[in-house]
Amino acid sequence: MHFYVMTLFPELIEKGMHTGVLYKAMEAGILSLDTFHIRDYTIEKHKRVDDYTYGGGAGMLIQAQPVYDTYQAVLKRLSCAEGKKPRVVYATPQGSVFDQAKAEELAKEEDLIFLCGHYEGIDERVLEEIVTDNISIGDYVLTGGELPALVMMDAISRLIPGVLNNDESATTESFNDGLLEYPQYTRPEEWMGKKVPEILLSGHHGNVEKWRLEKSLERTRERRPDLYEKYMELHPPVPEKKKRRKKKKKTTEENMPDGAAQVSGEDAGKDA
Ligand code: ADE
Repeated sequence: MHFYVMTLFPELIEKGMHTGVLYKAMEAGILSLDTFHIRDYTIEKHKRVDDYTYGGGAGMLIQAQPVYDTYQAVLKRLSCAEGKKPRVVYATPQGSVFDQAKAEELAKEEDLIFLCGHYEGIDERVLEEIVTDNISIGDYVLTGGELPALVMMDAISRLIPGVLNNDESATTESFNDGLLEYPQYTRPEEWMGKKVPEILLSGHHGNVEKWRLEKSLERTRERRPDLYEKYMELHPPVPEKKKRRKKKKKTTEENMPDGAAQVSGEDAGKDA
């Protein structure tokens, strides 16, 4: 994954990305980051990039020219196939709200360009020309798009194979399957009188998985009823009667000779 960031504060982006696993992934060549300072591309002799808003109103706006010329410089550096229009993410509170599904979608790209705004925003004409995705990181207003760009790059990067040392962590953490993560514990077994749940020490993998799912459901219902509702719509509970039939079918099949279970029994063909 190659990130390109158009910004008035390249040092903030670089500092944010040069830490921990992201830095290691960059060293390993799994990720790359190029920042482009919008001010370097202005043709204004005093290096200004902003101006007053037509129609009046408080605050200044970043002009179209320096942003467009920065974009042209990014295009020259791109690694993606010629002719393919790259995704350009504009970090803006007016965008759709970033979530795990969006991170997964963007992680499939080879190149991603981020545009970070400041002041009161950017001239609409250049946004129309280059932006493919308007994305907000939440319903609040920040002073600029750098922190949102870092948040998005972090969430996207951890989905790129090889970025996390343990591939499993990217798939089992919160939001996979739309549920929050279950509680976790490490040594010691007892701390301040609080014991690690017995089941986690049992070594019974099946029971541990069942407990974790129960806790995930419980936690999601309490803390994020919106996510819980969505999950339940997609995974409606199996009615008791059906559950009993399934269990019965399984036990009958277990007592049959190999292969016979697939074609015999009262349920054969019904669930197809
Ligand atoms: N720029 C300012 N506020 C923002 C937000 N909430 N999300 C994305 N970009 C922003």
